[in-house]
Amino acid sequence: MDISKVGVCGAGLMGHGIAQVSAQAGYEVVLRDCDQERLDKGIGKIDKQLARAVEKGRMEQADADGVRGRITGTLEAGPFADCDLVIEAITEDLAMKLELWRELDGVVKQEGIFATNTSSLAVIDQAAATGRPDRFLGLHFFNPAQVMPLLEVVQTVTTAEDTLATGFSFGERVGKLTVHAKDKTGFIVNRLLVPFMLDAIRAYEEGAGSIEQIDAAMKAGANHPMGPFTLLDFVGLDTTKAIADIMFDEYRERRFAAPPTLRKMVSAGWYGRKSGKGFYDYSGEKPLPVELGL
Ligand SMILES: NC(=O)c1ccc[n+]([C@@H]2O[C@H](COP(=O)([O-])OP(=O)(O)OC[C@H]3O[C@@H](n4cnc5c(N)ncnc54)[C@H](O)[C@@H]3O)[C@@H](O)[C@H]2O)c1
Repeated sequence: MDISKVGVCGAGLMGHGIAQVSAQAGYEVVLRDCDQERLDKGIGKIDKQLARAVEKGRMEQADADGVRGRITGTLEAGPFADCDLVIEAITEDLAMKLELWRELDGVVKQEGIFATNTSSLAVIDQAAATGRPDRFLGLHFFNPAQVMPLLEVVQTVTTAEDTLATGFSFGERVGKLTVHAKDKTGFIVNRLLVPFMLDAIRAYEEGAGSIEQIDAAMKAGANHPMGPFTLLDFVGLDTTKAIADIMFDEYRERRFAAPPTLRKMVSAGWYGRKSGKGFYDYSGEKPLPVELGL
């Protein structure tokens, strides 16, 4: 199926990036959030990224204007009616996602394809809640979507071959390396990465090292571009906890269980970079590790 208009639901960390890469690939994009402030923040981030690309000579001003001109923000479902592809990147909560799909199923044209950017929920649980389970797949981007090269294209039992093919051609057009993944909770990357990040928290709880020491050790010793605590703050601690809870529920293995420190930080509203505080405090010039007396 040919795609010309893409709808993105959720203008947070992931959604704004997915909207931007889609517009950069020439698609017309409608970006929706349920909260005006968050929608404005998401679009503001796109403006900033485009301005930086022009400043650094990576993009011509006319091209940046073209990209921005292809993105329309909305709080409504109506503008999704003629979307060929809808990607949801809302909060990692199955009940919220199901409510959204039920609404969109009644609005978006019948041939439109639905995709979830979920990190850990089973794609089938969302697909089965719509009247188009054959036109439903997972398109799992990585953070930041503008930079990270991978796209996991997730096939669930109901995904039709031409839907899958459309997912791959969309991914290639937005410049990603596409990898076929099965509908196994966590797909490929999070299945391996989430237990690693949770284990870093457990190592800290057990006194193996401080936040800074563990980060420095994994950067220099394993050649990771950032340490696990920097990465956790980047992903968002609320999102990480939601992912861990879902994966633990699915696999019932300790390696997927959210450690107490993570649970308490989320209760305190310390979500990482996006809230200004997580394992590091981002209020000063440079991030400083937080003293966690939890
Ligand atoms: N954070 C990551 O590194 C990462 C990476 C890959 C995938 N994901 C997945 O992407 C999804 C979004 O994660 P995020 O980190 O961008 O979260 P986020 O909290 O930054 O953004 C979620 C946005 O969705 C909006 N929203 C909630 N309900 C909505 C609705 N019904 N309609 C429209 N907007 C709605 C919220 O207002 C918020 O702006 C999750 O499923 C997550 O698992 C996250």
